[in-house]
Formats: sequence, C-alpha cells, structure tokens
Amino acid sequence: MRSCASTGIEGMEKILEVKGLKKTYHRDKNSLTAVEDVSFDVGKGECLGLVGESGCGKSTIAKIITHLTVPDAGSVRLGGQETLFLKGKRERALYRDIQMVFQDPQDSFDPRCTLGDGIMEGMRSQGMKKARAKERMYRLLEMVELDAEMAFRYPHEVSGGQCQRAAIARALAPDPQLVICDEATSALDVTVQGQIIKLLKRLRAGQGLSMLLICHDLALVQDFCDRVLVMYKGRVVEEGTPDEVIRHPREAYTRKLVDSVF
Ligand SMILES: Nc1ncnc2c1ncn2[C@@H]1O[C@H](COP(=O)(O)OP(=O)(O)OP(=O)(O)O)[C@@H](O)[C@H]1O
Ligand SMILES: [Mg+2]
Repeated sequence: MRSCASTGIEGMEKILEVKGLKKTYHRDKNSLTAVEDVSFDVGKGECLGLVGESGCGKSTIAKIITHLTVPDAGSVRLGGQETLFLKGKRERALYRDIQMVFQDPQDSFDPRCTLGDGIMEGMRSQGMKKARAKERMYRLLEMVELDAEMAFRYPHEVSGGQCQRAAIARALAPDPQLVICDEATSALDVTVQGQIIKLLKRLRAGQGLSMLLICHDLALVQDFCDRVLVMYKGRVVEEGTPDEVIRHPREAYTRKLVDSVF
C-alpha cells in the first residue's frame, strides 16, 4: 500500500501544515499505533475532507492538532508557526485560532450554562467587554439561523440540530483560522443533517472558512470538500479531489469505500 507523504496545494496560502505525525497509544502492556507518518496541508479558505473507516485515526489527528493529545513525532504548523510546543498565553491563542465542532453537540457546552453564555465564553475569556460579546453572540445566533430567545436556553432544552447550530456559533465566535468538524452531522437525523450541511456551506462561502471535515460519508465529502484524504489503519492511502478519488480510486480500500457508498 502506498503511503502519501504530503498533499500539494499549489499556489495557495497554507493555514495548516501537518508533517510526519505519529501517535502510539499505550494501555497496560499493549500498544497501538493509531497514526503513522501522516502529512497534509490545508489552504486558506479550503475545505479538506478526512475519511476512513472507524478506528483509522481521524479523531486522533484532530486531537493532536487541538492539543488534546501529544504525538510521538511530527510537526503541526498554523499560519507558519509550529504549535505542538506552545504553552501559556500562546497555547490559549491556539485554542482560539482552531475551533472544533463535535459529533455530539452537547459536548460543546457546559450543561449548567445557557447557550448564550456558552457562545460568549471564548470571547469573554479573551477579555472582550460583556456588551460587545453579547452583541456578537446575537449576531452569531442570527448567522446560524437561531432565534435570539435561544440564548436563554440550556443545552438540554433544545433539539440536537438547534444545539449543533449553537455549537457552530460558539466555534465561529473567536473568528478562528481553522474549524475542524469531527463527524459534526453524524448524530443528527437525515433532514437535520442536510440543514446543518447547508448552513456550513453558506458560512464557508460567506466567511471564507478554512476547514478540516472529518467524516465517514464520501457523498458529503464530494458535495462539500475541495480535496480529500482517505485514511486506512493510521496512514493516508489516497489523496485528491473528491471526484478524482471517487472516479479513479487507486487503493483497494478506497475502491471498497466508494462501492459501499455509490
Ligand atoms: N486514549 C486512547 N487510548 C488508547 N487507544 C485509543 C485512544 N484513543 C483512541 N484510541 C485507539 O486509536 C485508534 C484510532 O482512534 P480514533 O478515535 O482516532 O479513530 P477514528 O478514525 O476517529 O474512528 P471513528 O470513525 O470511529 O471516530 C482506535 O483503535 C482507538 O481505539
Ligand atoms: Mg473519530
């Protein structure tokens, strides 16, 4: 099986540059290499899809990029600056610059706080005055097509789709350089999935967002992403535009993935 060393995005300013990532988890006496020699870039305004079967290492990559776990080797650069060893103030700035939208929308919020406070939290911790944060929070609610009244609700008082819209507003609040969506629509029912995808598409176009979209769904990737990486057992085995990968899959695993969807 071929391992892709990196993906090229000719002539595009790079927001994220990931090189040679490796992560082995150790549990008792067992160890498992979840990510091996993974390299890729995300261009400014680009949406890169990351697909592959369950357990192939997709979320581990997201966790490394967002400092939720530490890799054994590799480098992650955001806007040209190495991020893996940032501490203190610069690490906090990284938490602002890279935002995640999770599979379970409730994961984005503290159950004891209203959605409005949850959306304002990041802005307040950056020192933004309450009145300004509030004003931006209401603008964000409008942007994700939620009524202003939602600001006063708690996460358990809204539907999954509404909560995911609020989670997207929360992710956009600090004006991040990169948004990572990790299976952001898979827990929602099909109609709501479609609405959230439509919203993400609109936001992408309007805000010029740079995105890493992690999902199982090749059809969604075809519809949404500029490029896609296919992972298999911790490695990137295929890369290209969604059409290239879907029409001319080079690896046996990708062919199986394409056949199962189309
Ligand atoms: N904290 C951990 N300790 C030990 N093993 C882990 C840990 N986190 C993940 N793993 C293992 O690492 C491998 C990759 O997991 P990861 O969550 O990155 O996969 P994934 O591609 O996101 O899967 P899914 O599509 O199901 O979300 C899996 O075998 C998983 O069991
Ligand atoms: Mg995952």
